[in-house]
Amino acid sequence: MWSGALAIPDDSTPKEKNIVLTGFMSTGKSTVGLRLAELLKRRFVDSDNVIVERAGMTIPQIFVRDGEVGFRVLEKEVCGDLAAQHGLVIATGGGMLIDPDNRARMLASGFVVCLDARLDVIRARLALADDRPLAGNWEALLEKRRAAYAAIPIHVDTSDKTPEIVAEEIVSQWRSAST
Ligand code: S3P
Repeated sequence: MWSGALAIPDDSTPKEKNIVLTGFMSTGKSTVGLRLAELLKRRFVDSDNVIVERAGMTIPQIFVRDGEVGFRVLEKEVCGDLAAQHGLVIATGGGMLIDPDNRARMLASGFVVCLDARLDVIRARLALADDRPLAGNWEALLEKRRAAYAAIPIHVDTSDKTPEIVAEEIVSQWRSAST
């Protein structure tokens, strides 16, 4: 929206909300996020990649050097910076929106979807990767986080579905929420 003959940008121009994916490790946030960004022709950002770029280290290296506490500090900074942007598809690390401030920030500025998966699906997907410092006692961690994930109003289950189908489900939820 532009106002006046000189086409000065109007501050009331509605900016496109970010679409933010949360959910436990291995529920498909990054894979689905990429498909969603392709479908909607938006820029895709993976919050873990931003953390890795800023720190100049891998996530396991950050955990070794600074512990989980240090990782969460970086994660909170990245959350704030991404929430201040518009029109992105963001895949967040599975712990980012467990923090109530991070959660409130993303819910206030974006369309947040929590991806879920059955335990057997999470177990099988986690077995394929060894780059997650918190994957060891994951079932207890998931139990501890259930209430925080349940606080997200929109959920999509990814078990037994292709990333394309999940991305299409999210688009349809997003369209019905925007009309
Ligand atoms: C974490 C999930 C990871 C990553 C870090 C911590 C978590 O991201 O941010 O290892 O606390 O659940 P994914 O959910 O993409 O695996």
